[in-house]
Amino acid sequence: MGVGILGAGPVTQAIHLPSLARLGDILTVRHIMDVDPAVAESVAARVGATHSTSIDALLGDPDVEIVAICSPHQFHAEQVIAACRAGKKAVLCEKPFAMNAEEAALISAVSAETGVPIIVGAMHTFDPGWLAASENWDDLPETAHTIRSSIVLPPNARFEDFATEIITRPAGGAPDYTDAEVIKGALRGGVMGLAIHDLPLIRRFTPDFKDVEVLEARHVRPFGYVISLRTPTRTIELRAAMNNTWKPEWSFEAFSDDAALRIDFTPSYVQAGSAVATFTRGSRTTVHGPFEHNGYEGEWRELAALAAGKQPPAAQTLIDDLTFALDIADATVANVESQHAVAEGAHA
Ligand SMILES: NC(=O)c1ccc[n+]([C@@H]2O[C@H](COP(=O)([O-])OP(=O)(O)OC[C@H]3O[C@@H](n4cnc5c(N)ncnc54)[C@H](O)[C@@H]3O)[C@@H](O)[C@H]2O)c1
Repeated sequence: MGVGILGAGPVTQAIHLPSLARLGDILTVRHIMDVDPAVAESVAARVGATHSTSIDALLGDPDVEIVAICSPHQFHAEQVIAACRAGKKAVLCEKPFAMNAEEAALISAVSAETGVPIIVGAMHTFDPGWLAASENWDDLPETAHTIRSSIVLPPNARFEDFATEIITRPAGGAPDYTDAEVIKGALRGGVMGLAIHDLPLIRRFTPDFKDVEVLEARHVRPFGYVISLRTPTRTIELRAAMNNTWKPEWSFEAFSDDAALRIDFTPSYVQAGSAVATFTRGSRTTVHGPFEHNGYEGEWRELAALAAGKQPPAAQTLIDDLTFALDIADATVANVESQHAVAEGAHA
């Protein structure tokens, strides 16, 4: 099936094109669109695809059956909707697929009306290590009391350099961490950009996810967070540090009174097999993985299956995942605001 990609920045170049290169028996990149003509032309040339700078040109291309949206966040909702309305067979949208609950509801309605399945690039949910764990974790999602997502990564650019030749990397300035607005923006970005990879996993273990409360939230320099959450029945810890440490680590853990699950994921950008899941109950430990491919390839395989007619997942799952992330991002920012107000009061 023919693939068209909207937005050809580092994620397209370093993640999706290498994944698609291994799936040539089922998927072929036909069209690359980017608002920067030099990027569109150069990235398309690498894969022998057509290039353009207009979304209409890509959506009007009959060779494009599957559309991937890899533009910056703020364009995701309108581009997903346009791809559905163009009658494509399936859509992959990089995370987050919307920036608020209204956009998410609109996307879901358009997907239902047009019958075009959508998946979000939360790659861990497509990782064979996670999927194998889900078939073997018994009642842990119902009985877990503590859940932890822990991420230690170098900045994205370090992976991009290893991955391929990247053109058009955005230049980042040094943020002013004395400005409370900068801290709030960094925390919101951390939740919606990084934690969001694991929030669908955490939600799976949190039946009362609608009652989530942020107990404490801190920004970690240069980029990261420590966020403590609770629901009536669960304790949740989110930790991330993006700095110059090596080696990277990305783990998801869930604990009940008598069982524990730990999943070690490969870092973003890295295509080196799947996550490894370790499940322990009493004195018995079972290990699943590593399998041959990771969640990036997994999401493309799923997309091809959906385009070929496989039953799509419930749209409500995507909405619930996004609402959970937005609730945590809002509560995190509110927590920082109240810390700031207390500090100001003490100062006065
Ligand atoms: N799944 C992952 O592991 C992962 C990792 C990093 C980023 N992401 C997500 O992937 C997306 C893209 O990330 P990136 O780092 O490549 O972003 P980027 O902003 O660096 O690059 C995006 C590209 O889109 C182009 N663009 C800008 N406006 C556009 C528009 N209206 N239509 C089409 N193209 C447009 C830009 O010219 C640029 O080439 C983001 O949503 C991000 O959250 C996913």
